[in-house]
Amino acid sequence: MDFRTNHEIIAAARRNSDGAVWDYLCGGSESESTMRRNRLALDCIALRPRVLRDVSGIDTATTMLGLHSALPFFLAPMASLQIVCAEGGAAAAKAAHDAGLVYMMSGHTQPDLAEIAAATPAPKMYQIYVRGDRGWIEELLGRVREAGYRALAVTVDTAHYSNRERQMLAGWEPPSRRNATGRNALAELDWDTFAMIGEIWSGPLILKGVGRPEDAVRAAEAGAAAIYVSNHGGRQLDAGHGTAVTLPPIAEAVAGRAEIWVDGGFVRGTDIVKALALGADMVGIGKLQAWALAAGGAEGLSQCIGILAEEIRICMELLGVTSLAELGPQHLAKARPVGPAHEMSAFPHLPKGGRLV
Ligand SMILES: Cc1cc2nc3c(=O)[nH]c(=O)nc-3n(C[C@H](O)[C@H](O)[C@H](O)COP(=O)(O)O)c2cc1C
Repeated sequence: MDFRTNHEIIAAARRNSDGAVWDYLCGGSESESTMRRNRLALDCIALRPRVLRDVSGIDTATTMLGLHSALPFFLAPMASLQIVCAEGGAAAAKAAHDAGLVYMMSGHTQPDLAEIAAATPAPKMYQIYVRGDRGWIEELLGRVREAGYRALAVTVDTAHYSNRERQMLAGWEPPSRRNATGRNALAELDWDTFAMIGEIWSGPLILKGVGRPEDAVRAAEAGAAAIYVSNHGGRQLDAGHGTAVTLPPIAEAVAGRAEIWVDGGFVRGTDIVKALALGADMVGIGKLQAWALAAGGAEGLSQCIGILAEEIRICMELLGVTSLAELGPQHLAKARPVGPAHEMSAFPHLPKGGRLV
């Protein structure tokens, strides 16, 4: 297994995945317009290079809430990874560790949080879906703290599990949905719950699923250390904007009071560079992470991360910057997309000329 491009990784993932699992990894909600707009928003941005700037020494390192990261991206939380590869979240944690990245574990993946914590010494964060009352949260966060997780992300864009119609048509649900309890707790979340979680956790807190500046500012004022701009990869609210559109006003409104992270359709080094130039501090990788795990487990994901890292370096060299801090709006311009946007449109050489349904 020696992948030179993410094209090969996606094609291998498709070969290795059962149809229903593939639909789960790739699908969005309802019309899938939010998911497609994530790509479209990125495709509508062109990069503006400078030349003759001695780019022989590139530095891609940064920090995430004070934790070192060799690259300006992290592995976004993903549920049910055990159906994608046998080691599940532990495989993702290992690949993150090997690349010097921070891993964010989903509270809905396997193996158990203690096992994933023990899989590598790399710094990890935990993402919680609130599924119970204060006692339930206290018990869970006690275990999260005990296992050594360094920060807590609260996902708040799932007040209702959306209609993922690819899954509905296949008559299939991921393990995280089977016998799911506490659906009301997710619908009942409010700012008081967020404050209560902050009190119980008493460590760095991240609000995941933010789409508007008003909420971002409120979260920063409520003590969030990072605002995680996300529409769940277009898997929750349909008919939304792409995150490359929602990100800049949020970054502007927060004005340095909290870190700004973003995800949604980021599958290329150039996408990540665009996000940083738009005001993000870090970028989360969702679907591509799962495709790489399906292609080759931890090793497949390590190779995928290596390909993204190389793309970032090439992009920075060709843009004429040597550090991430130099990136800004001066490197960006509005542009027409070159073709229809979909979850694989950044990979035009896939078999069958594109989308692998
Ligand atoms: C298969 C799958 C499972 C996911 N599970 C979770 C989850 O458990 N918790 C969460 O906060 N977000 C979850 N997400 C959303 C991701 O964290 C992230 O926001 C999204 O995937 C980013 O978009 P992208 O897939 O286009 O990169 C999941 C996404 C996918 C594709």
